[in-house]
Amino acid sequence: MDSKKRLSPGPGTSPIRRRRFILVIAAFLCFIYFFGSPFRLPATLRNASGVSRAKIVHLVKGSKSQTAVKVDEIYGLLNLVTGDSEHEHILGHTESFDPTKPVDMALYAAGKEDLDWKERVEELNTRYPVVVFSKSYCPYSKRAKDLLAAYDVSPPPKIIEVDLRDDAIQVKTVLTRLTHHATFPNVIIRGKSIGGSDQLHALHANRSLRRTLEKAGMTVRGDIS
Ligand SMILES: *[C@@H]1O[C@H](CO)[C@@H](O)[C@H](O)[C@H]1NC(C)=O
Repeated sequence: MDSKKRLSPGPGTSPIRRRRFILVIAAFLCFIYFFGSPFRLPATLRNASGVSRAKIVHLVKGSKSQTAVKVDEIYGLLNLVTGDSEHEHILGHTESFDPTKPVDMALYAAGKEDLDWKERVEELNTRYPVVVFSKSYCPYSKRAKDLLAAYDVSPPPKIIEVDLRDDAIQVKTVLTRLTHHATFPNVIIRGKSIGGSDQLHALHANRSLRRTLEKAGMTVRGDIS
């Protein structure tokens, strides 16, 4: 009797209407929860007409879980510049891109939407414990590279010749912002800049470079006294 009443809405059944209203609100909140508010969509997605709704949901969810994992932006840059396919680097491809401000990690993912940053940071630290941002014609860069070559470390330092990249200005701007070191070379050991050639040579001079490299997980094979 009671249930029948509920199913047939008649005049003057305000509790049912209220319940319906609550149901509609609840459904709306569920919708917001699962699909994300359109106001939170990143600017790049808002203008992307070719992206399906499903994909947007996926991307929004992905970026949510990425921000849950706190990753230093430098690893984003390292991921981008150590990638094998150079044409994939995208710094500066969007008009709204501003390298002087913190960059969304998704831009560093080089097309990999579901990149697990926590895993990637481990991988970057293991495969490329030393990354040298260099300029191919710069004598200071050469001095740093020569010194590291004398240590003959394994894994070998990853040398990035920034001037040979299409996004040289963007990479330099991001690197300066993140490391507060504006010149080349810029030697990065496990995500931290130790400075340039002078700092590297100072570590060598006071005999702490070998230890620094070994602590970063490298094997020194060079005959360094
Ligand atoms: C060696 O030189 C580096 C760079 O100048 C300095 O940071 C470090 O404290 C020095 N270490 C020792 C053991 O003198």
